[in-house]
Amino acid sequence: MDEPKRKPSRSLLDTFSTDAPYVTEVRRLMQSLLRHSRGHASRVYMVTSASRGEGKSTTCALLAIVAARIFHRRTLLIDADMRRPSQHTLLDVSPRPGLSALIRGKVSFDAARRPTPIPLLQVIPSGRPGHASAEAYDDDVFAGIITAARRHHELVFVDAAPVVPVVEPIMMADHVDGLLLVAMAGRTPIPMIRRMRQILEPVQEKVVGGIVNNAAEGLPYYYDHSYYGYRPERVRASMEPDADENADTPTGQSAPGAPSDTKEQ
Ligand SMILES: Nc1ncnc2c1ncn2[C@@H]1O[C@H](COP(=O)(O)OP(=O)(O)OP(=O)(O)O)[C@@H](O)[C@H]1O
Ligand SMILES: [Mg+2]
Repeated sequence: MDEPKRKPSRSLLDTFSTDAPYVTEVRRLMQSLLRHSRGHASRVYMVTSASRGEGKSTTCALLAIVAARIFHRRTLLIDADMRRPSQHTLLDVSPRPGLSALIRGKVSFDAARRPTPIPLLQVIPSGRPGHASAEAYDDDVFAGIITAARRHHELVFVDAAPVVPVVEPIMMADHVDGLLLVAMAGRTPIPMIRRMRQILEPVQEKVVGGIVNNAAEGLPYYYDHSYYGYRPERVRASMEPDADENADTPTGQSAPGAPSDTKEQ
């Protein structure tokens, strides 16, 4: 009898190699985040983008893997994109129970949080996908989840939905220490980037980095994964749709609240 055909795995763990060029980029970014974390027992970073399919989840998972495996930090990855969950697939864990059940008070923090094949990395998957779970979002409960996460983990990464079509990410941003913005080169429409800037205005001092992915290359060959550095002014400049329009926010000027150590690796 023929063996049943297996669906190709989308787990990042199957292809992860510490020597791969894209991992080098993520290590560089991680090194900068660790400088940002210095002096803090725990730091929480949220990854978001303007629109769908820009590489948020992949970037977030790679950061969490690198933090745990290479930098030996107790790390938690929270899949907070309740409409399009993907971390359970990328990290090869069961999808439920997850964040949506945790927010609705159906399970405890420890029941929603589970180990991954990487010893120092734990994950809270998103849980049941769909509109209903997204509607269940409760800001105070989410704040409590982040507080619990800080108690147990040195680094927490939140894989958020995109900020333009979805409202939760800007609410979640209030509870994290840093925002990482992801864009897909040549794909993100300029009006979407402009709108993202407006939406993130109230929390702009939290932007600590940006990643421009290259959609032309498929996984695992995304060498052009370029990192704009842990320099808020450069990130903002790289995401500027129209430099003239923003003459009041000159590049090269540090964002308010930006730590002084912004030197690139
Ligand atoms: N740096 C990259 N280079 C090339 N392709 C990439 C890169 N990062 C991710 N991809 C591919 O782009 C697609 C979308 O990636 P991913 O799911 O990480 O994006 P997302 O922003 O989380 O999407 P969604 O908004 O649907 O949650 C996937 O097929 C992924 O393999
Ligand atoms: Mg995603």
